[in-house]
Amino acid sequence: MLYIIRSVDNKYLATAMLETAVYCIMYGFFYHKVSPSSSLNCILNVSFSLILEHVREFSCGKLHYRTFHLDSSKDQLYVGAMDKIFRLNLNNINRTRCEVDSLSLEPNRESSLSCVSKGKSELYDCRNHIRVIQPIGDGNKLYICGTNAHSPRDWVINVNILAFVIRINNVSLVVHKTWITQANLSHLFPYESFPGVGNGIAKCPFDPEDNATAIWVEKGNPSGLPGLYSGSVAEFTKADTVIFRTDLFNVTTGQRVHPFKRTIKYDSKWLDKPHFVGSYDIGDFVYFFFRESAVEYINCGKNVYSRVARVCKRDTGGKNILSKNWASFLKARLNCSIPGEFPFYFNEIREFEQLFCILLIILTTAEHVYKHPDDDSKFYAVFSTSMNGLLGSAICTFSLDSVQEVFSGKFKEQATSSSAWLPVLTSKVPEPRPGVCVNDTQSLPDSVLNFIRGHPLMDSAVAHDNGKPVFYKRDVVFTRIVVDRLEVKGIKYFVYYAGTSTGYVYKLVEWVDRSGEVHSHLVDVFEATVPHPIRAMEISSKHKSLYVASDNVVRQFDLLMCKGRYENCIRCIKDPYCGWDRDHGECKPFVIGLIQDLNNATPGICDDCVKFREMKVNYGQSIHLSCPVRLPDMELLLSKYGSLKWYYFRSERSTGYEVFPRRDKFVHTNDNGLVILNILERESGRYECKLGTNTLCRYNITVDLKTCTAPADNEYRKVYSEWCHEFEKYKQAMKAWQMKQAKCQTVAHPNEVTNS
Ligand SMILES: *[C@@H]1O[C@H](CO)[C@@H](O)[C@H](O)[C@H]1NC(C)=O
Ligand SMILES: *[C@@H]1O[C@H](CO)[C@@H](O)[C@H](O)[C@H]1NC(C)=O
Ligand SMILES: *[C@@H]1O[C@H](CO)[C@@H](O)[C@H](O)[C@H]1NC(C)=O
Ligand SMILES: *[C@@H]1O[C@H](CO)[C@@H](O)[C@H](O)[C@H]1NC(C)=O
Ligand SMILES: *[C@@H]1O[C@H](CO)[C@@H](O)[C@H](O)[C@H]1NC(C)=O
Ligand SMILES: *[C@@H]1O[C@H](CO)[C@@H](O)[C@H](O)[C@H]1NC(C)=O
Ligand SMILES: *[C@@H]1O[C@H](CO)[C@@H](O)[C@H](O)[C@H]1NC(C)=O
Ligand SMILES: *[C@@H]1O[C@H](CO)[C@@H](O)[C@H](O)[C@H]1NC(C)=O
Ligand SMILES: *[C@@H]1O[C@H](CO)[C@@H](O)[C@H](O)[C@H]1NC(C)=O
Repeated sequence: MLYIIRSVDNKYLATAMLETAVYCIMYGFFYHKVSPSSSLNCILNVSFSLILEHVREFSCGKLHYRTFHLDSSKDQLYVGAMDKIFRLNLNNINRTRCEVDSLSLEPNRESSLSCVSKGKSELYDCRNHIRVIQPIGDGNKLYICGTNAHSPRDWVINVNILAFVIRINNVSLVVHKTWITQANLSHLFPYESFPGVGNGIAKCPFDPEDNATAIWVEKGNPSGLPGLYSGSVAEFTKADTVIFRTDLFNVTTGQRVHPFKRTIKYDSKWLDKPHFVGSYDIGDFVYFFFRESAVEYINCGKNVYSRVARVCKRDTGGKNILSKNWASFLKARLNCSIPGEFPFYFNEIREFEQLFCILLIILTTAEHVYKHPDDDSKFYAVFSTSMNGLLGSAICTFSLDSVQEVFSGKFKEQATSSSAWLPVLTSKVPEPRPGVCVNDTQSLPDSVLNFIRGHPLMDSAVAHDNGKPVFYKRDVVFTRIVVDRLEVKGIKYFVYYAGTSTGYVYKLVEWVDRSGEVHSHLVDVFEATVPHPIRAMEISSKHKSLYVASDNVVRQFDLLMCKGRYENCIRCIKDPYCGWDRDHGECKPFVIGLIQDLNNATPGICDDCVKFREMKVNYGQSIHLSCPVRLPDMELLLSKYGSLKWYYFRSERSTGYEVFPRRDKFVHTNDNGLVILNILERESGRYECKLGTNTLCRYNITVDLKTCTAPADNEYRKVYSEWCHEFEKYKQAMKAWQMKQAKCQTVAHPNEVTNS
C-alpha cells in the first residue's frame, strides 16, 4: 500500500510503502502512531486549528529582534537579535525553542571592556547586535555581521541540513528532499574556512541604532567572485560613511583577487550623513536606497533628500584616479510628493532658518524600501516626516524603468560654491558615458573618471508611479513595508502592509481596473506590536503569513484574516483575500461564489446582509440605537459622502426619509448612534444608518402600547445617562465651535475696507 504522509500544512513530508502502520510525522522526530484510516484526521485536525488562529508569536525576552532573512524555500526565518541569531519555522514561529534554535554570538570580553570604557552602555550598546544576515550559495551557509560591542565583526555559519533516513518497523522511509531534518545552527567546522571574514568594519555599523544595509552578491562581480555590498559607517565616530564592496577572494584558494571598493572618503558630494534603508542586486547593478543631507539644496537651511544610488557590479575602480573607489557610482533623488497646490515632498528638513520654507516643502525621510522577490521592476518605499507638528507618512512606488531613465538623463553640477545647481550640458559629458557598466573600468579614460568624481548626482528626481502616493496619512510614521501580490478574477492586486512606529500595521490594496485606472484603499489596521515600534517585517505568500518584529517579540499573522476579523459584509468585500458568504452570514477566504466588490461596482451589495436588530420598547421610553461599525478608512468615506445618516421607514414598503436632529426628539450621538426621546407609537418601524449607499445598521422598532408601564427606574437611568454623556460631548463641541467662530469674527475679512 502506498501512503503519502503530509506535514501539517499539507506539504509532502514523505512517501513510503508501509505494510504495518502509518505515522504522522511532525517536525523532526516527533511523531505518533495512528492507524491508516485516521491518518487523514490527524492532518485535518492540526490544519484546522491553524486556520482558527490568526496570530502566533515567538520571544525569548527583550532581545531587540531587528534583522530578518526569510528563506521561503527552506521554510526558515532567520532573526538577528542581541547576541543571538534565531531560526524560526515559517509555518509556525511558535515552535521555536530559545536554546536549540539559536546560535549565540556574544562579543568577546576585550571588545566589551573597550566599548564600556568609551562610555557606551554595557547592557545594550556593548553587546553584539546582528545587523546583516545574507544567504551564501544555496542558503546552507549564512553571512552574518554584528556590531560586536562597537567593533563590528562578521562570521559565516552553517545552517546545514542533514539527511536522515527514518526507520519505522524495519521499513525505510525515504524523506522527501524539501523536508530533510535540520541540524542546529553552528559555526563552521575546523576543516571548513571562508576567506575574508572576521573584521566587520564598513560591512555593518558600530552603533546598533545606525541605519545600514548590506547584500551578499554571488553573480556578476569581477572574476565571478562572491562578495558583500554594504551601506554603512566605517568609523567609530561615524564621520566616514560608505557604500562598500568587500575584498573579493577566490573561495577555493583563499587568495585575494580584487581589493575592496568604496565611495570617496569624506566627500559630501558622494555621501553626506546618509541613513541607508535598503539594497538590491538587479542585473548589472547593485542599488542602494538612503536619505542624506541634500548638497544641492541651498535655498533655505538644510534639507534631507531621499535617494537611490547604483554601482556596477563589474566595477574594479579606476587605474590612477579613483583606484580604490567606484568608477560607476551615480545617485538620484527620489520624488514622493502629494499632489496639491505645492508639491508636498517627502524629504526631511533638519533645521529651519526661514519660516517660508515650511510652507513650500514638506519634510520626510525614506524609512524603508521593499522589493518583491519575484519582481525586479518595482520598489515600494515608505517615507515620513520627522518634524514635530508635521507628522505624516506616505507610501510611494518606483519602477526600475524610471530609476534607469534618470540615470541615463542629465547630470547636475554647481559651477562655483555660491552658484545654483544646474544640469550639465550634454556636450560636456565625456565618452563612454560615466556610470554605465563597462567590462573593465580600469581602462576608462581619466576624463570619464574625473567627471564621475565631480558629478555623482543626476539632475532629475525619480518620479513615483501614477504621480501620487499609494497612500498618505497624517499623524503616523511608517517604519517598514512589505507587499504581497494576488490575482482574483483576472485582476492583479497589490496588498501593502505598512508597519508603524507605534506597532500598528496598515493594510492597503492597490489595483488597476479594466479601464486602466489605478485605485487604492485602506483595508484594515491592526495591532501588531503596540505600543512598540515595528523594527522588521517580512512576508511569505507561500506560507500565507506576515512576520513582524519589535524589540520584544516576533509575531506571525495570517494573510487570510477573514473570519474572526471582518464581522460585517461591508469590510469583508473590500479585502481581496476574502469574500462574504451570504448563506452563512460570514466572511471567508475568497472563492468564486462569494461576494467581493473592491471597485464598489454594486452599491448596496451588502444591504441584505445587515442583520435586523429587533427592539420592543414601551411607549414614552427613550432609546439608544447604536451603530458601532468601525471602518479603517472612515475618515475618507466621510469626506466622500458627507456624514452618516439615519433614515426612517414607517413600513416595509414605504420610502424612507432622513431623520434630522430635533432637540426634544432625535439626538445623533458621536459614535454614529441615534437617541430617540420619549418614543410614540407612530414612530415604530425601521431605522437604518447609512454611509453613502451602504447600510451599516438596521433596527426594527416595535412600540408596545399594551404593556405601557413606566420604565423601570434603573432602565430609565441607564438610557438617560448614556444620552447625557453624548449630549455633554455635543455641548462641548458646540462651545469649542462657538469660541472659534467668535475668534474668526474679530479678524477683519480680507476683502473689507478698513478706515484707519
Ligand atoms: C481529530 O478530531 C476528531 C474529532 O474531533 C477526533 O475524534 C480525533 O481523535 C482527532 N484525531 C487526532 C489524531 O487528534
Ligand atoms: C505556543 O502557543 C501556545 C498557545 O497557542 C502557548 O501556550 C505556548 O507557550 C507557545 N509556545 C512558545 C514556545 O511560545
Ligand atoms: C525487524 O527485523 C528484525 C531482524 O531484522 C526481525 O527479527 C523482526 O521480526 C522485524 N520486525 C518486523 C516488525 O518486521
Ligand atoms: C541541537 O542542540 C541541542 C541542544 O544544544 C542538542 O541536544 C541536539 O542534540 C542538537 N541536535 C543536533 C542534530 O545536533
Ligand atoms: C535610523 O532611522 C530611524 C528611523 O528613521 C531614526 O529614528 C534613527 O534615529 C536613525 N538612527 C540614527 C542613529 O540616526
Ligand atoms: C580559484 O583558484 C583556482 C586555483 O588556482 C582556480 O582554478 C580557479 O579558477 C579560481 N577561481 C576563480 C573564480 O578565479
Ligand atoms: C564585455 O564582455 C562580454 C563577455 O565577456 C563580451 O561579450 C563583450 O563583447 C564585452 N564588451 C566590450 C565592450 O568589450
Ligand atoms: C515630483 O512629482 C510631482 C508630482 O508628480 C511633480 O509635480 C514635481 O514637479 C516633481 N518634482 C521633482 C523635483 O521632480
Ligand atoms: C419588523 O417588525 C414588524 C413588526 O413586528 C414585522 O412585521 C416585520 O416583518 C419586521 N421586519 C423584519 C425585516 O424583521
